[in-house]
Amino acid sequence: MSEWLKAYRENHADFDQPSAIGSLPSDPYTAFSQWFDAAVQAKEREANAFVLSTSNAELQASARILYLKELLGQQFIFYTNYSSHKGQELSKNPKASMLFFWPQLMRQVRIEGSVQQIDPAISDAYFASRPRESQLGAWASQQSESLTDRSELIARFEAFDLQFPGAVPRPPHWGGFALEPHYMEFWQGQPSRLHERRVYEFSQNQWKSKLLNP
Ligand SMILES: Cc1cc2nc3c(=O)[nH]c(=O)nc-3n(C[C@H](O)[C@H](O)[C@H](O)COP(=O)(O)O)c2cc1C
Repeated sequence: MSEWLKAYRENHADFDQPSAIGSLPSDPYTAFSQWFDAAVQAKEREANAFVLSTSNAELQASARILYLKELLGQQFIFYTNYSSHKGQELSKNPKASMLFFWPQLMRQVRIEGSVQQIDPAISDAYFASRPRESQLGAWASQQSESLTDRSELIARFEAFDLQFPGAVPRPPHWGGFALEPHYMEFWQGQPSRLHERRVYEFSQNQWKSKLLNP
């Protein structure tokens, strides 16, 4: 061992110690839940925000931040406008990736899988639980379409407020998607820069896990 490495090891006692990544559960959904709960505990801001990447027929990728609403069994649920840019891309290519980044914990989770619209009854129930202004906003916003100016949006918001004086029904163009993964990767930053990566892949009806070089 070189003198430099000897000195380095003395100053970095945990240099060759694996983090908790090796003891993550064999079920990746449980592993995700554990890391998500840890992110909330660590007071990560917007712990449920993730980057959703989709692509179009010309294989052009596009990405934007969304909120994860829940992990329902094996499905990651998020809500959006079905006619939006992402909604249209997902209808043509229902494959997407999700990326979570929790900087306090130096953790990243990458998820890849196929996406489908969820049961309308579940979207109805979630929509009904949202504040009225969010419900009216879902009606007013023709998400990803061009807008002449903000007053156009406000006028639509006011018009829907008058149209629905009582309960606001869910717009048919708004609802949930469920991403069902076939790949989940957990990344743990390490001070030595010898970061840790653990991948779970679903094939032949089971999840298998392995480590990757950082
Ligand atoms: C923190 C944050 C959370 C967001 N959450 C959502 C969301 O849950 N659903 C949604 O449709 N857009 C959400 N957005 C807006 C999207 O990033 C995006 O602008 C919008 O969905 C239009 O994307 P598109 O044109 O690619 O379809 C969020 C943006 C930010 C910054």
